[in-house]
Amino acid sequence: MKRPSQLPSADRLRYGADYNPDQWLDQVQVLEEDISLMQRVQATSASIGIFAWTSLEPSPGHYNFAWLDDTMERFAKAGLSVFLATPSGSKPMWLSEQHPEVRRVTAEGRREPSGGRHNHCPTSPVYRSAVARINRQLALRYGKHPALALWHVGNELNGECHCLLCRSAFHAWLQKRYHCLETLNRVWWNSFWNKTITEWTQIPTTDPGNDGLTVDWLRFVNDQHVSFLENEMAPLRELCPHVPCTTNFMGTNRSTNYWQWAGSLDCIANDHYPLPDDRAGCWRKALGTDFIHSLVRGLADGAPWLLMECSPSSVNWSRINKLKRPGVHLQEVLQAVANGADAIHYFQWRKGLGGHEKYHGAVIDHEGSSDSRVFRECAEVGKVLRDLAPVAGLAPERAKVAIIYDWESRWALEASAGPKKAEESDRHNEACLEHFRALRCAGIEVDLIAPNAELAAYRLVVSPALYSLSAETARRLTKFTIAGGAWVATYLTGYVDEHNRCWRGGFPGPNLREVFGLWNEEVDYLFDDENVRIEGALFGPGGSATATDIVEQLNAEGAQTLATLASEFYANRPIVLRNNCGAGNTFYIGARLAEEGCISFYEYLASELDLPRLVLPRGVVRKTRAGADGPVEFLFNYTREEVSVDLGEDTFHCLVDGHACHGKTTLRPYASLVKGCRPASLPPPSPTPLHPTHEEPQLSASPRR
Ligand code: GLA
Ligand code: ZN
Repeated sequence: MKRPSQLPSADRLRYGADYNPDQWLDQVQVLEEDISLMQRVQATSASIGIFAWTSLEPSPGHYNFAWLDDTMERFAKAGLSVFLATPSGSKPMWLSEQHPEVRRVTAEGRREPSGGRHNHCPTSPVYRSAVARINRQLALRYGKHPALALWHVGNELNGECHCLLCRSAFHAWLQKRYHCLETLNRVWWNSFWNKTITEWTQIPTTDPGNDGLTVDWLRFVNDQHVSFLENEMAPLRELCPHVPCTTNFMGTNRSTNYWQWAGSLDCIANDHYPLPDDRAGCWRKALGTDFIHSLVRGLADGAPWLLMECSPSSVNWSRINKLKRPGVHLQEVLQAVANGADAIHYFQWRKGLGGHEKYHGAVIDHEGSSDSRVFRECAEVGKVLRDLAPVAGLAPERAKVAIIYDWESRWALEASAGPKKAEESDRHNEACLEHFRALRCAGIEVDLIAPNAELAAYRLVVSPALYSLSAETARRLTKFTIAGGAWVATYLTGYVDEHNRCWRGGFPGPNLREVFGLWNEEVDYLFDDENVRIEGALFGPGGSATATDIVEQLNAEGAQTLATLASEFYANRPIVLRNNCGAGNTFYIGARLAEEGCISFYEYLASELDLPRLVLPRGVVRKTRAGADGPVEFLFNYTREEVSVDLGEDTFHCLVDGHACHGKTTLRPYASLVKGCRPASLPPPSPTPLHPTHEEPQLSASPRR
């Protein structure tokens, strides 16, 4: 696998936004102002032309590059760089009307009308060649332009197309995988409900009653996106091999197995929009963002990455589009940087006057000037990012503990009736997030890794709800454990193989009964308002925890019982177990633990395994990026309350006002501090931490239209 590490070179952290000059071509003054406003927020770059195909190619084969030439020149002159987009994210009307095959077909067989976006057929040869053609033009014209820093390929590729082209490509994909129908019928268990296939052409693209087909369909769709992406990049790589290519991911998006995409790209970019706090408490939400960033770190294989989209204020698509509270935005930006982001880009630079995203947050509002709260916050972020220049290129810290994140288990669960709730539920993703949060609350750093990742560097591997477990993955995890590692598995482990067929011989499969020293005989599901008490000394004083949602009926077969169920007809059955396995240990948690119990489990484990741990008050987080001249460390208060911490001898600086702190310190709500990178440009320390400030910079208030 190619290592995704070739970020566009820069001697500082990149800062910018999605920029759509093509929407303002009749207002040249606005375009001029954009450049000076970008300079005022200390931007370095912009992603340009993401949805600009028609502006570039108004009719088939007739190009209009004048506006992009001007834009590239303006950027070069101002010392700004361009992440030049290939425009495949939405289709020109002339193309989708002339060639309906480029439009996607729904699962019900309805061809979508022209319009919309992110809705092309990924198989269509017409679309693939139209995309390759415009991309070739862009590469020929701008490949050597001094402003070009990165190819932003397409936009948030995802979704399914059920057209006849996709259907026959699916058949070819299946033939390559299974060679003969006998094998396919066997692995899909097709004697069930008369599903036996007698001709390849009979195979549908969707059949909710066929659990094996559904998983293979999702694999095919994923492969099809990757091959579409490769097709887009071919002319770019041929004509300008020196410019890295990326595409913007969507974190844990359901249908895209990004582990597979990462190897095709030169660097990893992600879009993430943390929504403002809910009543559940902002630190939980912020740890949810850390979870996403950790996944991105894993996708980037430990190299720095790009936050390609976030909002400088609100979005326009959530249920309640709240504004971010003062201090929150800066913290979210720095949180990404602390997790390895070397670039922070917004969606969007300027609000359009029309169109579906006219109310989405932007650096520049409809009013048009720099005289806004959001602009001032963005300018403050720009200053802080400039000051953090020494952080650029530093690798984010690697952990000793890893969680296995597995899209295939999500797909298999989604395709299986029974182990998930009837309403939307994503048990694998939820389990990974809950265990991530619990580990972090116990003071333990965590990486997110692929099921086929190298394990040797880890002391502990946690595989939450690893429902689909191949013999090969089970073998690798067992080998890791025998060699001295610790493996934590949970409820819903090893129910099915890679074809979504249940393992014979008792769960957890395949053949893991011996490794875990237990047999999972059956599963009880709880009502939403129901829970079951668990007892065990590992839960600390009082020795109890709560199980919700899902409770497996385990039989110890050699494992030591650490905790038992304490209510219901299954009282006294083991629910948390530990087993010796070679030089290592396995642990099995057969129930969905409520938060505090899960945290206690990892506290217990940290002391049993002597894991490195940094215990801070709940919601206070410390993150490191490693440098040759010593690490740069970040310290955050994710809560909206003041929190007291003892920094000991360490001196941290507030990233807003430069205030130095050490020893016993009170962190303001949403405080963000740094150690090991006190930039010269910071003002002399002030006597009290001001957080946040909105006094500078001095910005003109004149509207500019
Ligand atoms: C996505 C898209 C952008 C924009 C934003 C709005 O991330 O890539 O084009 O629509 O959402 O939040
Ligand atoms: Zn199609």
